[in-house]
Amino acid sequence: MTKVFFVGAGPGDPELITVKGQRLLEQADILIYTGSLVNRELVERSPARVKLDSHGMKLEEMVDAMTKHARDGALVVRLHSGDPSLYGAIVEQMQGLSRAGVDYEVVPGVSSLFAAAAALRTQLTLGGVAESVIVTRPAGATLKEDDIPSLSVHKATMVFFLGTGHLEDITSRVRCSPETPAAVVYHASWPDQQVVRGTVADIAARARDAGIERTALLIIGGVLDPMHSGHHRSQLYS
Ligand SMILES: C[S@@+](CC[C@H](N)C(=O)[O-])C[C@H]1O[C@@H](n2cnc3c(N)ncnc32)[C@H](O)[C@@H]1O
Repeated sequence: MTKVFFVGAGPGDPELITVKGQRLLEQADILIYTGSLVNRELVERSPARVKLDSHGMKLEEMVDAMTKHARDGALVVRLHSGDPSLYGAIVEQMQGLSRAGVDYEVVPGVSSLFAAAAALRTQLTLGGVAESVIVTRPAGATLKEDDIPSLSVHKATMVFFLGTGHLEDITSRVRCSPETPAAVVYHASWPDQQVVRGTVADIAARARDAGIERTALLIIGGVLDPMHSGHHRSQLYS
């Protein structure tokens, strides 16, 4: 029996998978991938004899497929978008594998959060501006309640996943000045990447005007405008 590898595919650009992830992809016999977000080029790069899009599959089907093939000695790769630890639902798959007695390993990936920071050409933490990053998501179809108002009182950079359809709602509930810089990054690292900048007051309308409806991150905080946010030089190279 072999292990199952949960691999982070990165945010979209197929060059942003790790060296280890790439090697496993090239050695995989069985590949299960998140079709809606993983770049097709990565799927095609793999010689796996079985390739399954997890979209529409039930958890039990996925765990059964991974278990069966791992028991047969196949190298099974479960490819998740970005980094699997963020909104990736790997824990339930790992629990299923543990119950079946199948071992597994997680290979991290570059989250879309970091691809968005790169697209915005800034830091998420910046001396004098933000020493913390809050990663969260708004309530919606798969989450009953969120903590957006209470989370937004800290002097932290805020990153919202799974919120493209809720931009007006999020920006109306954050407890920070309407002038706070905000940005929406669509498809970070993909060829059709779009960056829209504004403030808490107008970012939702700007993103709508740009036609952004899905697969984007909303980022709020002074780090988006380092020139005017009073950051100080890092001690690192003083
Ligand atoms: C199920 S979560 C997966 C996140 C993933 N594990 C990660 O680390 O990027 C999907 C959400 O991540 C965000 N997302 C994923 N890829 C993105 C990208 N390339 N650019 C911007 N946002 C992205 C969007 O908010 C999307 O609704």
